[in-house]
Amino acid sequence: MTNTLITAHNLDVLSTMPSSTVDVVLTSPPYFRQREYDHETPHEIGNEATQEEYMHSLLAVFRECVRVLKPTGAIVINLGDKYLDGSLALLPYKFAIQATDLFDVKLINNITWTKLNPTPRQDKRKLVQSSEPFFLFVKDSARYYFDQDAFMEHLDALKATNRAKPTNGLGKKYFDLLDESSLSAEEKSNARRELTSVIEEVKTGAIEGFRMKIRGLHAQPFGGQEGGRKIHIERDGFTIIRILGKTMKKDVIESPVEAIKGNPHPAVYPLYVVQQLIKLLCPEDGTVLDPFCGSGTTCVAAKMLGRNYIGIDISPKYIEYAEERLNAVQKRELELFL
Ligand SMILES: C[S@@+](CC[C@H](N)C(=O)[O-])C[C@H]1O[C@@H](n2cnc3c(N)ncnc32)[C@H](O)[C@@H]1O
Repeated sequence: MTNTLITAHNLDVLSTMPSSTVDVVLTSPPYFRQREYDHETPHEIGNEATQEEYMHSLLAVFRECVRVLKPTGAIVINLGDKYLDGSLALLPYKFAIQATDLFDVKLINNITWTKLNPTPRQDKRKLVQSSEPFFLFVKDSARYYFDQDAFMEHLDALKATNRAKPTNGLGKKYFDLLDESSLSAEEKSNARRELTSVIEEVKTGAIEGFRMKIRGLHAQPFGGQEGGRKIHIERDGFTIIRILGKTMKKDVIESPVEAIKGNPHPAVYPLYVVQQLIKLLCPEDGTVLDPFCGSGTTCVAAKMLGRNYIGIDISPKYIEYAEERLNAVQKRELELFL
């Protein structure tokens, strides 16, 4: 079934899939009563009469997603909220609570997509909604695949480029301070040796930088906790704090809402966000499933990144368009080989 798009009600397909075969489920179900995507597909989820029925439909799909997921896998659900009777319904959070209550999954992160170009609102008494959650669930919190280095790796590369700065005179102030300090001759000698070594780490790019604290010259580490650096300073006369070069991988992704020319689908999520999540969660030979694939963004991202994909949507119109997008990816790859 891999590397195919299927026009069907997702439950009909999911129920035929073997258990524990998919690495990642990455999807954005229809938001509650947001829009009727395709008038020819009356059984689509999202048009239920009540919130409870909507939740019931989503959780039925989620149950199957959990079943087909490998023990090392992850499920990412993107949902938007809605004002009902003048109040935010908190539907994404209600879904996450019920999903974790009902199924044997752990909620690892609530990743926020911040929209750089949100849709303006006419309502002068509400702020513009400019973010949506992507809930990251796993089956086994000790075993799930998680390649943090691959997530937003371009930021690490950028940081490494910025790091190429002159290192002449690096650490000189600490050598001078050590001379002035009241450390014993042996302590000074150990401190100078470690200082020389850490300077080398900066020069080779292994770390971004460092700070040194010397007994009697620098304040005790803030908080005054017994242990760690405080013990080092008391015992050795100094401590060195290494500043690692890697970017902090945060649970926020900034990206514009994408408008693809000719795309008939009204609610496409950004390729960039999806790509980052696939790199984070799917091994290179793995399979990504999107049971509400719409215009195929998840499958396109998976294909671009050399992963396998399975896409399901109830609308033949969207599947047809998703096929076109996927064929274009193939063409682009072929051009690269010529
Ligand atoms: C929010 S859209 C997904 C958009 C997609 N992420 C993209 O970037 O194009 C939700 C999709 O779910 C589909 N859908 C609704 N009910 C469905 C069902 N029961 N089975 C399969 N697809 C369904 C709709 O046709 C719609 O395309």
